[in-house]
Amino acid sequence: MKKILVINGPNLNLLGLREPAIYGNRDFNALIEFIKESARSLGLQVECFQSNHEGAIVDKIQQAYGVFDGIVINPAAYTHTSVAILDALKAVAIPTVEVHISDVSEREEFRRHSFVSLYAAKTIMGKGFDGYREALSFFL
Ligand code: DQA
Repeated sequence: MKKILVINGPNLNLLGLREPAIYGNRDFNALIEFIKESARSLGLQVECFQSNHEGAIVDKIQQAYGVFDGIVINPAAYTHTSVAILDALKAVAIPTVEVHISDVSEREEFRRHSFVSLYAAKTIMGKGFDGYREALSFFL
């Protein structure tokens, strides 16, 4: 069974509370349950990791080397700023799918550029929680 690491970046732990008009009313626990149920039904093994800290996300990506077959990452605000996360993904060279709950192409100009997109095999945006299921299915 393939092992997939799902990484969620800063402020995604505040789903439900955070800008519900953009991110919806369901909370972070509901997202984790959705991801675990999706993985179960797709026949994938999944581990979920969330951090508000760029370096912790870099550490987790480094530790994924030789352990995980794929990464699903919503780098949140670090999408638009983090060369370090891009470099970590390139270093471990694990196939990666990028997910955004909102459609970042329809929002502020600064959200249109993604460093992670320079490595990710696929980017899914604007599909809410369902985007994570689509990202997991990439690894089938
Ligand atoms: C996000 C979009 C980012 O621009 C934002 O900083 C986030 C969440 C999304 O899931 O839509 O924190 O990655």
